[in-house]
Amino acid sequence: METDVQPSEVFTPSAPIDRRDFFAGRIRQLGRVIETLPSPGWHPIIFGQRGVGKTSLANILRELLPDVWAVKVNCDGSDTFASIWERVLQKASFSFKKAAFGFSKAQIEKHTSLRAFLSYEGAIGPSHVAQVLDLVKTKAIFIIDEFDRVSNSEAKSYMVDLIKNVSDNNRHVTISLVGVGESITELIGEHPSVQRNLVQIEMPPMSDEEIKTIITKGCDLLGLRVVSAVLDEIAQLANGFPHYAHLLGLSIARACKLHETKKMDTKLFQSLACSLAVEDAVETYRNAFTVAHR
Ligand SMILES: Nc1ncnc2c1ncn2[C@@H]1O[C@H](COP(=O)(O)OP(=O)(O)O)[C@@H](O)[C@H]1O
Ligand SMILES: [Mg+2]
Repeated sequence: METDVQPSEVFTPSAPIDRRDFFAGRIRQLGRVIETLPSPGWHPIIFGQRGVGKTSLANILRELLPDVWAVKVNCDGSDTFASIWERVLQKASFSFKKAAFGFSKAQIEKHTSLRAFLSYEGAIGPSHVAQVLDLVKTKAIFIIDEFDRVSNSEAKSYMVDLIKNVSDNNRHVTISLVGVGESITELIGEHPSVQRNLVQIEMPPMSDEEIKTIITKGCDLLGLRVVSAVLDEIAQLANGFPHYAHLLGLSIARACKLHETKKMDTKLFQSLACSLAVEDAVETYRNAFTVAHR
């Protein structure tokens, strides 16, 4: 297939995926997240090492689930429970029709966000947010990414309290926490009382097949073919980390263009690997090659 797609659109070593057609593998993990949606009281916590593809998976949920209202925010080190939820609710914008004053049949379209319904005195706590979420009468998932960056311990226990509250009282809303960690305890601390409401979704490094799919999918979109021996070698180099597959994909596209070919075979890949190892400035990239070719 030949398209106008540029290599830098398909292979994005430093940005998460945000389109389903550029997303490879992860069928099991996606299935488990989606399973939680119809079930009140189940909230997916997605955790794993940095760079395995957690954000990418969260990003494509919106496209995969057009009937679900998906709102996603990122956290940072200065966040509190209040600042996270103010951001989520602000981003949860919607429009509605309202009778125009003075004209019996005419309607006007109004835009607002859930933030407008947050009423509180003093600090925003779990019950204030729960009250706003009670207004949501359609399936919705609120995704809070990079939750590992939140250092405020109250934010974690408040988040757990909110999940408990929503589990008991709200059939429509799912809250998903996403972050770097080896376990959910690393993300939210010890909270046995909410354990049964949390669906633990570990994102392991990718399988060789998934890594190969990144290359074949991307190369298909670019009209390039990669022989299977090269795919095997890429899977070995990437060692489960999609970032490397994207770097290699970019190099493949560049080399094919330079050599005016549509096919990446073993010989061309070997010469590519050698020149990249000396030329490329990306340190990790060079290391990947050095390790694999030692
Ligand atoms: N399923 C996937 N298919 C293709 N590329 C992926 C996939 N998951 C992650 N990537 C790529 O891997 C890199 C890291 O992904 P990201 O979602 O940012 O990881 P994390 O959030 O776990 O740190 C990015 O370059 C992204 O484009
Ligand atoms: Mg991420």
